[in-house]
Amino acid sequence: MSTLQHTEKVIPLNSRRPRGEAFVPPKRNPVRPATRAVSITSGKGGVGKTNIVANIGYELSRSGQSVLILDADMGLGNLDILLGLAPRFNLSHVIMGEKRIDEVVVEGPGNMKILPAASGIQELTQLSRDQKIGILYELDQLLDSVDILLIDSAAGISANVLDFSVSAHETMVVVTPEPTSITDAYALMKVLALKYDEKRCRLIVNQAANDQEGREIFRQLNIVAQKFLDIEVDYFGCILKDEIMTACVKQQRIVSQAFPESMAARGFRNLARKTGALPTLPATSGDSHLVWHHIFQEDISWK
Ligand SMILES: Nc1ncnc2c1ncn2[C@@H]1O[C@H](COP(=O)(O)OP(=O)(O)OP(=O)(O)O)[C@@H](O)[C@H]1O
Ligand SMILES: [Mg+2]
Repeated sequence: MSTLQHTEKVIPLNSRRPRGEAFVPPKRNPVRPATRAVSITSGKGGVGKTNIVANIGYELSRSGQSVLILDADMGLGNLDILLGLAPRFNLSHVIMGEKRIDEVVVEGPGNMKILPAASGIQELTQLSRDQKIGILYELDQLLDSVDILLIDSAAGISANVLDFSVSAHETMVVVTPEPTSITDAYALMKVLALKYDEKRCRLIVNQAANDQEGREIFRQLNIVAQKFLDIEVDYFGCILKDEIMTACVKQQRIVSQAFPESMAARGFRNLARKTGALPTLPATSGDSHLVWHHIFQEDISWK
């Protein structure tokens, strides 16, 4: 339960780093390959992002990778609920300067590490630039100890959502076969391309009737993206509609753990394998720091 009340104002994060003090990027371990940071986003809400992140995270964790999941749905985070966790602290405590980020990390199924978000605190959906950079700065401190960071975004095209998404090295857009979801995915790609100058995103089709439907949705979206947007869309794969998912959500269990041979779990295994094989950035690259990546994107979006 959060200690913040709805009426309370959120103060700037990271009072330990005074305003105006030069930002010094954390030093990376040169031997360890850079962590991959992957954000999962969508135009329309309720398309399955949180389930995708939880199941891919679980599968990667089981295969021996060290996984950290950030619940970046700042105002309505629910990853902890989906996983049946009841964390005492969450990102709101980090933003309030009450806890360090490593102090709010909890362990989820399969040993994956979870950074829970607060729920029901509206101020968190309107973070200032300093607060966003503060969170990313603290997140960077954790990156050396994990192989992969998965970011579970809120839906939509607001700056509060996308500023986190584009700080990751890979952006995945989730879409379902519903026409409204497809048009909203296109709107999201448009903002990614025009406002943030993203050159590539990857598409996950969730709740598809079959593989063919997944590929067909990709084909349609890719045609319009190629024609009107300067962004390359790669097909990452699809997850079939599987009623067992609903039962798992109700029981706060993840399908990959509870029913590893279900259709959905097989799809998640496939996506996890591909996620684990994504290229890493060289450890020496400044780009591997979320804060630098963020500031770079910010320069573009303010032009
Ligand atoms: N492959 C699937 N088959 C059947 N149902 C699914 C599938 N994927 C997700 N769902 C259902 O969709 C619902 C929404 O999923 P989820 O909460 O992961 O979406 P979300 O995109 O994270 O939503 P929000 O935008 O609100 O954060 C869940 O209740 C889940 O049962
Ligand atoms: Mg969600």
